[in-house]
Amino acid sequence: MTTSVTAANPIKRAPATDGVLDIFLDRWSPRSFTDRSVSAEDLKRIFEAARWSPSSSNEQPWRFIVGIKGTDTFDKIVSTLGGFNQAWAHKAPVLLLGVARKHFVKNDAPNHYALFDLGQATAAITLEAAALGIATHQMGGFDHDIARKALGIPEEFAIGSVMAIGYVGDPSALPESYAKSETSPRSRKPLDEVALSAWDEPLKLD
Ligand SMILES: Cc1cc2nc3c(=O)[nH]c(=O)nc-3n(C[C@H](O)[C@H](O)[C@H](O)COP(=O)(O)O)c2cc1C
Repeated sequence: MTTSVTAANPIKRAPATDGVLDIFLDRWSPRSFTDRSVSAEDLKRIFEAARWSPSSSNEQPWRFIVGIKGTDTFDKIVSTLGGFNQAWAHKAPVLLLGVARKHFVKNDAPNHYALFDLGQATAAITLEAAALGIATHQMGGFDHDIARKALGIPEEFAIGSVMAIGYVGDPSALPESYAKSETSPRSRKPLDEVALSAWDEPLKLD
């Protein structure tokens, strides 16, 4: 098993919380990517991790449309991005769009967990990639209609997020307005705001 997190960055590492796996603390979402491509072997491993995610009724509603730089699919995904994202994401070697089937195959009933399950599989991608020293950055800033049309996504599939995958680049390669966030610490809500023993009552853990 690979345990090294080569994307680790001391500024981006979450403050130590006893026992939390390094992979959660070190994963972060950069905007500066190098030219280095991601090997087919690593991509296979990343998507295998997604494939083994849990899902409601084991429906596995997710599909990932993967664009490798230089392909039509890559260019089409870039064309869907809002200007803010397009400015940096076009440099990543891989861009993908995650989508999820809205109805169960077995009975055509609505799958209210389709996007939830896609989110879990997407999280698996981010963590498996991090274990390989590969960075990911998800994006909601893209045009769903353009994406559906350009990539031929059937109406039956709900649109999830776009993700850039690659190797962390130097912040100085980005315009100044983007570079700052590359070197700022990550922030999160306090634990007692999100883990509750009753509504509005923090779960007491100390
Ligand atoms: C569904 C989703 C949509 C996001 N959309 C964007 C986006 O459009 N552009 C962007 O630069 N970052 C986007 N992000 C990245 C978040 O801003 C980032 O994950 C968050 O600030 C936490 O930072 P970290 O991942 O480095 O811990 C998105 C993340 C998620 C999960």
